[in-house]
Amino acid sequence: MHKLRLFGLIVVFFSHSIVSSLEIVSGATWTATNTGKHVQSHGAGIINVDNVFYMIGEDKSDGPRNVVNCYSSSNLVEWNLEGAPLRMQGGDLGPGRVVERPKVIYNKSTRKYVMYMHIDSGDYKEAKVGVATCDSVCGIYTYHKSFQPMGKQSRDMGLYQDDDGTAYLLSEDRQNGLHIFKLAKDYLSVSSMVYTWPEKFEAPAILKKDGTYFMFASRLSGWDANDNIYSTASSLYGPWTLWQLFAPQGSKTFTSQTTYILTVGRDTAIYAGDRWVGKNLMRSTYVWLPLRISGKKASLENHPHWSVDITTGSLTLGGKQELSYGAHTATASGGARLVDCSGCSGKKSIGYIGGPSNGTIIFNSVKTSVAGRRTLVIKYTNGDKTQRFAEISVNGSPGQTVAFLPSSDDATPASSVAHLNLKEGINNIKISAKDQSWGPNIDRLVVFDK
Ligand SMILES: *[C@@H]1O[C@H](CO)[C@@H](O)[C@H](O)[C@H]1NC(C)=O
Ligand SMILES: *[C@@H]1O[C@H](CO)[C@@H](O)[C@H](O)[C@H]1NC(C)=O
Repeated sequence: MHKLRLFGLIVVFFSHSIVSSLEIVSGATWTATNTGKHVQSHGAGIINVDNVFYMIGEDKSDGPRNVVNCYSSSNLVEWNLEGAPLRMQGGDLGPGRVVERPKVIYNKSTRKYVMYMHIDSGDYKEAKVGVATCDSVCGIYTYHKSFQPMGKQSRDMGLYQDDDGTAYLLSEDRQNGLHIFKLAKDYLSVSSMVYTWPEKFEAPAILKKDGTYFMFASRLSGWDANDNIYSTASSLYGPWTLWQLFAPQGSKTFTSQTTYILTVGRDTAIYAGDRWVGKNLMRSTYVWLPLRISGKKASLENHPHWSVDITTGSLTLGGKQELSYGAHTATASGGARLVDCSGCSGKKSIGYIGGPSNGTIIFNSVKTSVAGRRTLVIKYTNGDKTQRFAEISVNGSPGQTVAFLPSSDDATPASSVAHLNLKEGINNIKISAKDQSWGPNIDRLVVFDK
């Protein structure tokens, strides 16, 4: 909310409060607004260009896919697919090749966006970085080359651009440890070695706050999550402190691996991690949480849903009233009906949504105390190996497509999120499926009131 003091009067612009009422729901299916499918931007980097956030990451869709996608958002909640900066092509970006963890920085003098990524053969033996550039953040990048930085193996990598414009490559080298390399002035090559940790850590990302550098990383445990760690220093050249945990021990960083640390507003740090599903990578979700920095200490708490004002960086960590509507209270028609679901509310969900009989359910008493755009969590199950879709319509408005990734099983509900315009008072929310396809089984809706 923006307050402007005018001749002693306080004018409040509510447009901002509506935007910041949308919630980041960690680990849920995130449906891109313009594709209706789960966001495919794994191992991503995030760059802010003129107050728009661009999330550039790996496309792990099943079926034909791009290599690297770029999504944009002005609130860190609603994402639009802008295009594919890197598409499948010959050479390093050919079929069966590994292209992971793309990160983009901007060089003001050359006016180029520079992307680094991990480039590898299918057996991960090449261990190189690749470099691509573009005149626009989400344009089609020109792929230049791949190499081993100063002759060292390079797998998981990150980029860090310091306040003075100097940029660094962070890179995991299984033989020698984790490195920081300084990039050449044009960012297109590596010019020197800055620091090496002998430990075998990967997934590096740097944050600088009040003159302290924080290096975050994970241990090596394949696609499985582990307790990630961090170290601090007042210079990238060290000395660096001993590594320590930033999330509760045993939480495996809330089942995620560091990919990027984003700063919003003046200095609110946001942890962006991947919750990898190794057996089906397109199902991997995003664990984004506020990172508390106090002096030289970093700590991460779990918040199932939270919001950030991207202008000021101020955080709202829960505190909103949660209104939950079990599917057994909805009206089902066209073949949609209650089915058993041991982990669902009332041990029931509604299945057979969509299909040849056009199964539909209606929640006709979803309450909110103020009109506005709201985040709804939809608890569901989907026993398929690929995402299902539903059309969600509020108060008779045209349907909006929402994706539902496979859930771990038929009895444990997963979460998907939808952002909908609700009116004050009672709302009618209809869930159906398009083209007689099957939608997910719905357990319940959760609405965050103010
Ligand atoms: C970008 O590249 C130029 C030319 O190579 C270099 O002088 C400059 O320091 C680089 N960095 C930034 C932030 O512009
Ligand atoms: C379901 O919807 C389709 C397309 O709108 C329609 O052709 C079909 O007759 C409907 N089926 C039933 C059983 O109503």
